[in-house]
Amino acid sequence: MRIVLLGAPGAGKGTLANHLKTKCGVLHLSTGDMLREEMKSDSSLGKEVKKYVESGALVPDEVVIKLIENKLKGADVAKGFLLDGFPRTAKQAQNLDEILEGMGQPIQYSFFMEVSLPVILQRLTGRRVCRQCGAVYHIKNMPSKVEGKCDVCDGELYQRPDDNEATIRTRMDVYTKSTTPVIEYYDQQGKLKKVNAEQETEKLFDELIGIIGQNDGKSDKD
Ligand code: AP5
Repeated sequence: MRIVLLGAPGAGKGTLANHLKTKCGVLHLSTGDMLREEMKSDSSLGKEVKKYVESGALVPDEVVIKLIENKLKGADVAKGFLLDGFPRTAKQAQNLDEILEGMGQPIQYSFFMEVSLPVILQRLTGRRVCRQCGAVYHIKNMPSKVEGKCDVCDGELYQRPDDNEATIRTRMDVYTKSTTPVIEYYDQQGKLKKVNAEQETEKLFDELIGIIGQNDGKSDKD
Protein backbone atom coordinates (compact mmCIF):
# COMPACT_ATOMS: atom_id res chain seq x y z
CA MET A 1 0.00 0.00 0.00
CA ARG A 2 1.20 3.48 -0.89
CA ILE A 3 -0.93 5.93 1.00
CA VAL A 4 -1.20 9.61 1.86
CA LEU A 5 -3.01 10.46 5.11
CA LEU A 6 -4.61 13.88 4.77
CA GLY A 7 -6.38 15.74 7.51
CA ALA A 8 -6.40 18.74 9.79
CA PRO A 9 -4.01 19.03 12.74
CA GLY A 10 -5.23 16.52 15.32
CA ALA A 11 -7.26 14.44 12.84
CA GLY A 12 -5.35 11.42 14.17
CA LYS A 13 -2.97 10.88 11.23
CA GLY A 14 -0.02 9.88 13.43
CA THR A 15 -2.15 7.61 15.62
CA LEU A 16 -3.67 5.79 12.63
CA ALA A 17 -0.27 5.58 10.90
CA ASN A 18 1.24 3.89 13.98
CA HIS A 19 -1.62 1.40 13.96
CA LEU A 20 -1.07 0.63 10.27
CA LYS A 21 2.67 0.34 10.81
CA THR A 22 2.21 -2.13 13.69
CA LYS A 23 -0.43 -4.24 11.95
CA CYS A 24 0.79 -4.16 8.33
CA GLY A 25 4.52 -3.46 8.65
CA VAL A 26 4.29 -0.43 6.39
CA LEU A 27 6.90 2.32 6.50
CA HIS A 28 5.57 5.47 8.25
CA LEU A 29 7.01 8.79 7.11
CA SER A 30 5.90 11.89 9.01
CA THR A 31 7.38 15.24 8.02
CA GLY A 32 6.32 16.68 11.40
CA ASP A 33 8.37 13.97 13.21
CA MET A 34 11.33 14.53 10.87
CA LEU A 35 11.29 18.27 11.55
CA ARG A 36 11.00 17.77 15.33
CA GLU A 37 14.01 15.39 15.18
CA GLU A 38 16.00 18.10 13.39
CA MET A 39 14.95 20.64 16.02
CA LYS A 40 16.01 18.27 18.81
CA SER A 41 19.44 17.72 17.23
CA ASP A 42 20.01 21.48 17.19
CA SER A 43 21.34 21.26 13.61
CA SER A 44 21.39 24.39 11.45
CA LEU A 45 18.31 23.02 9.64
CA GLY A 46 16.68 22.45 13.04
CA LYS A 47 17.32 26.05 14.05
CA GLU A 48 15.97 27.29 10.72
CA VAL A 49 12.69 25.31 10.87
CA LYS A 50 11.96 25.93 14.57
CA LYS A 51 10.43 29.36 14.04
CA TYR A 52 8.00 28.00 11.46
CA VAL A 53 6.95 24.90 13.42
CA GLU A 54 6.48 26.66 16.76
CA SER A 55 4.42 29.49 15.26
CA GLY A 56 2.18 27.09 13.31
CA ALA A 57 3.38 28.24 9.87
CA LEU A 58 4.46 25.84 7.12
CA VAL A 59 8.15 25.13 6.62
CA PRO A 60 9.20 26.17 3.05
CA ASP A 61 8.32 23.64 0.35
CA GLU A 62 11.94 23.10 -0.80
CA VAL A 63 13.00 22.01 2.70
CA VAL A 64 10.27 19.39 3.25
CA ILE A 65 10.37 18.11 -0.35
CA LYS A 66 14.12 17.43 0.02
CA LEU A 67 13.59 15.73 3.39
CA ILE A 68 10.91 13.38 2.04
CA GLU A 69 12.76 12.70 -1.21
CA ASN A 70 15.89 11.62 0.72
CA LYS A 71 13.83 9.37 2.99
CA LEU A 72 11.88 7.74 0.16
CA LYS A 73 14.94 7.12 -1.97
CA GLY A 74 16.95 5.75 0.97
CA ALA A 75 14.21 3.49 2.34
CA ASP A 76 12.97 0.01 1.59
CA VAL A 77 9.54 0.77 0.15
CA ALA A 78 8.81 -2.79 -0.99
CA LYS A 79 5.98 -3.20 1.57
CA GLY A 80 4.67 0.26 0.80
CA PHE A 81 4.63 3.51 2.76
CA LEU A 82 2.36 5.92 4.55
CA LEU A 83 2.89 9.63 4.23
CA ASP A 84 1.64 11.59 7.25
CA GLY A 85 1.63 15.39 7.08
CA PHE A 86 2.98 15.43 3.52
CA PRO A 87 2.04 16.71 0.97
CA ARG A 88 0.52 19.85 2.45
CA THR A 89 0.63 22.21 -0.54
CA ALA A 90 -0.15 21.76 -4.25
CA LYS A 91 3.55 22.17 -5.05
CA GLN A 92 4.48 19.39 -2.61
CA ALA A 93 1.82 17.11 -4.16
CA GLN A 94 3.10 17.73 -7.70
CA ASN A 95 6.74 17.20 -6.68
CA LEU A 96 5.82 14.02 -4.82
CA ASP A 97 4.18 12.60 -7.94
CA GLU A 98 7.33 13.36 -9.95
CA ILE A 99 9.58 11.67 -7.37
CA LEU A 100 7.35 8.59 -7.14
CA GLU A 101 6.94 8.36 -10.88
CA GLY A 102 10.74 8.16 -11.12
CA MET A 103 10.68 5.32 -8.58
CA GLY A 104 7.78 3.51 -10.28
CA GLN A 105 5.80 3.68 -6.99
CA PRO A 106 2.81 6.01 -7.48
CA ILE A 107 0.38 6.89 -4.68
CA GLN A 108 -2.63 4.56 -4.67
CA TYR A 109 -4.92 6.20 -2.09
CA SER A 110 -5.21 9.49 -0.32
CA PHE A 111 -7.37 9.13 2.80
CA PHE A 112 -8.98 12.37 3.87
CA MET A 113 -9.64 12.10 7.62
CA GLU A 114 -12.62 14.33 8.46
CA VAL A 115 -12.95 15.77 11.99
CA SER A 116 -14.87 18.76 13.39
CA LEU A 117 -13.15 21.76 15.02
CA PRO A 118 -14.38 21.06 18.61
CA VAL A 119 -12.94 17.52 18.41
CA ILE A 120 -9.65 18.88 17.03
CA LEU A 121 -9.32 21.36 19.88
CA GLN A 122 -10.15 18.71 22.49
CA ARG A 123 -7.63 16.27 20.98
CA LEU A 124 -4.75 18.69 20.55
CA THR A 125 -5.01 20.53 23.85
CA GLY A 126 -5.04 17.13 25.64
CA ARG A 127 -2.27 15.49 23.63
CA ARG A 128 0.92 14.45 25.43
CA VAL A 129 4.01 13.05 23.70
CA CYS A 130 6.93 11.03 25.06
CA ARG A 131 10.14 13.05 24.95
CA GLN A 132 12.18 9.88 24.53
CA CYS A 133 10.34 7.56 22.09
CA GLY A 134 7.65 9.86 20.61
CA ALA A 135 4.66 7.71 21.71
CA VAL A 136 1.44 9.76 21.64
CA TYR A 137 -1.15 9.88 24.47
CA HIS A 138 -4.21 11.92 25.39
CA ILE A 139 -4.99 12.94 28.94
CA LYS A 140 -8.63 11.72 28.55
CA ASN A 141 -8.91 9.57 25.37
CA MET A 142 -5.66 7.60 25.71
CA PRO A 143 -4.05 8.29 29.10
CA SER A 144 -0.76 6.68 30.10
CA LYS A 145 -0.89 4.23 33.01
CA VAL A 146 1.20 6.55 35.22
CA GLU A 147 0.49 10.25 34.79
CA GLY A 148 3.33 12.05 32.98
CA LYS A 149 5.26 8.82 32.21
CA CYS A 150 5.41 6.84 28.98
CA ASP A 151 4.04 3.26 29.13
CA VAL A 152 6.58 2.11 26.53
CA CYS A 153 9.90 3.52 27.82
CA ASP A 154 9.10 5.37 31.07
CA GLY A 155 10.17 8.64 29.39
CA GLU A 156 8.73 12.01 30.37
CA LEU A 157 5.50 13.11 28.64
CA TYR A 158 5.34 16.70 27.43
CA GLN A 159 2.95 19.01 25.60
CA ARG A 160 4.09 20.12 22.14
CA PRO A 161 4.75 23.90 22.10
CA ASP A 162 2.42 24.24 19.07
CA ASP A 163 -0.45 22.52 20.93
CA ASN A 164 -1.78 25.66 22.62
CA GLU A 165 -5.14 27.03 21.51
CA ALA A 166 -3.81 30.16 19.72
CA THR A 167 -1.23 28.21 17.67
CA ILE A 168 -3.78 25.45 16.92
CA ARG A 169 -6.05 28.12 15.39
CA THR A 170 -3.15 29.43 13.26
CA ARG A 171 -2.39 25.85 12.13
CA MET A 172 -6.07 25.38 11.22
CA ASP A 173 -6.05 28.58 9.11
CA VAL A 174 -2.84 27.50 7.37
CA TYR A 175 -4.31 24.03 6.79
CA THR A 176 -7.52 25.41 5.24
CA LYS A 177 -5.62 27.75 2.93
CA SER A 178 -2.74 25.50 1.86
CA THR A 179 -4.05 21.95 2.09
CA THR A 180 -7.53 22.29 0.55
CA PRO A 181 -5.90 22.34 -2.95
CA VAL A 182 -4.16 19.05 -2.07
CA ILE A 183 -7.54 17.44 -1.30
CA GLU A 184 -8.80 18.67 -4.68
CA TYR A 185 -5.61 17.43 -6.37
CA TYR A 186 -6.17 13.83 -5.25
CA ASP A 187 -9.91 14.05 -5.89
CA GLN A 188 -9.21 14.97 -9.52
CA GLN A 189 -6.90 11.96 -9.80
CA GLY A 190 -9.71 9.71 -8.47
CA LYS A 191 -7.54 8.69 -5.47
CA LEU A 192 -9.34 10.54 -2.67
CA LYS A 193 -11.25 8.49 -0.06
CA LYS A 194 -13.10 10.35 2.70
CA VAL A 195 -13.25 8.68 6.12
CA ASN A 196 -14.89 9.67 9.39
CA ALA A 197 -11.92 10.20 11.72
CA GLU A 198 -14.10 10.85 14.80
CA GLN A 199 -14.58 7.11 15.29
CA GLU A 200 -12.22 4.91 17.33
CA THR A 201 -8.84 4.24 15.74
CA GLU A 202 -9.51 0.47 15.49
CA LYS A 203 -12.77 1.09 13.58
CA LEU A 204 -11.10 3.64 11.35
CA PHE A 205 -8.33 1.14 10.62
CA ASP A 206 -10.97 -1.50 9.65
CA GLU A 207 -12.72 1.01 7.38
CA LEU A 208 -9.47 1.87 5.64
CA ILE A 209 -8.47 -1.77 5.17
CA GLY A 210 -12.01 -2.44 3.85
CA ILE A 211 -11.64 0.30 1.23
CA ILE A 212 -8.26 -1.05 0.12
CA GLY A 213 -9.71 -4.58 -0.03
CA GLN A 214 -12.73 -3.45 -2.08
CA ASN A 215 -10.49 -1.81 -4.62
CA ASP A 216 -8.10 -4.75 -4.80
CA GLY A 217 -8.12 -5.93 -8.38
CA LYS A 218 -9.19 -2.54 -9.70
CA SER A 219 -5.75 -1.20 -8.80
CA ASP A 220 -2.43 -2.68 -7.76
CA LYS A 221 -2.80 -3.22 -3.97
CA ASP A 222 0.74 -3.99 -2.86
P1 AP5 B 1 2.66 17.76 12.16
O1 AP5 B 1 3.43 17.13 13.25
O2 AP5 B 1 2.45 17.05 10.89
O3 AP5 B 1 1.31 18.29 12.79
P2 AP5 B 1 -0.20 18.29 12.27
O4 AP5 B 1 -0.47 18.03 10.85
O5 AP5 B 1 -0.67 19.58 12.81
O6 AP5 B 1 -0.76 17.03 12.89
P3 AP5 B 1 -0.66 16.58 14.33
O7 AP5 B 1 0.63 15.84 14.57
O8 AP5 B 1 -0.91 17.75 15.25
O9 AP5 B 1 -1.93 15.64 14.47
P4 AP5 B 1 -2.26 14.18 13.98
O10 AP5 B 1 -3.30 14.27 12.92
O11 AP5 B 1 -1.04 13.36 13.69
O12 AP5 B 1 -2.96 13.66 15.31
P5 AP5 B 1 -2.47 12.59 16.40
O13 AP5 B 1 -2.54 11.21 15.83
O14 AP5 B 1 -1.21 13.00 17.09
O15 AP5 B 1 3.35 19.16 11.76
C1 AP5 B 1 3.79 20.08 12.74
C2 AP5 B 1 4.40 21.29 12.03
O16 AP5 B 1 5.53 20.88 11.22
C3 AP5 B 1 3.50 22.04 11.05
O17 AP5 B 1 2.67 22.98 11.72
C4 AP5 B 1 4.53 22.70 10.12
O18 AP5 B 1 5.13 23.81 10.73
C5 AP5 B 1 5.61 21.62 10.00
N1 AP5 B 1 5.35 20.71 8.87
C6 AP5 B 1 5.08 19.38 8.94
N2 AP5 B 1 4.90 18.86 7.72
C7 AP5 B 1 5.06 19.89 6.83
C8 AP5 B 1 4.95 19.99 5.43
N3 AP5 B 1 4.66 18.92 4.66
N4 AP5 B 1 5.15 21.19 4.85
C9 AP5 B 1 5.48 22.28 5.59
N5 AP5 B 1 5.57 22.26 6.94
C10 AP5 B 1 5.35 21.06 7.57
O19 AP5 B 1 -3.70 12.72 17.43
C11 AP5 B 1 -3.94 13.92 18.16
C12 AP5 B 1 -4.49 13.56 19.54
O20 AP5 B 1 -5.78 12.95 19.39
C13 AP5 B 1 -3.63 12.55 20.32
O21 AP5 B 1 -3.62 12.91 21.67
C14 AP5 B 1 -4.33 11.21 20.12
O22 AP5 B 1 -4.16 10.38 21.25
C15 AP5 B 1 -5.79 11.62 19.94
N6 AP5 B 1 -6.48 10.79 18.97
C16 AP5 B 1 -6.02 10.45 17.73
N7 AP5 B 1 -6.92 9.67 17.10
C17 AP5 B 1 -7.98 9.53 17.95
C18 AP5 B 1 -9.23 8.85 17.86
N8 AP5 B 1 -9.57 8.16 16.77
N9 AP5 B 1 -10.08 8.94 18.89
C19 AP5 B 1 -9.75 9.64 20.01
N10 AP5 B 1 -8.57 10.30 20.17
C20 AP5 B 1 -7.70 10.25 19.15
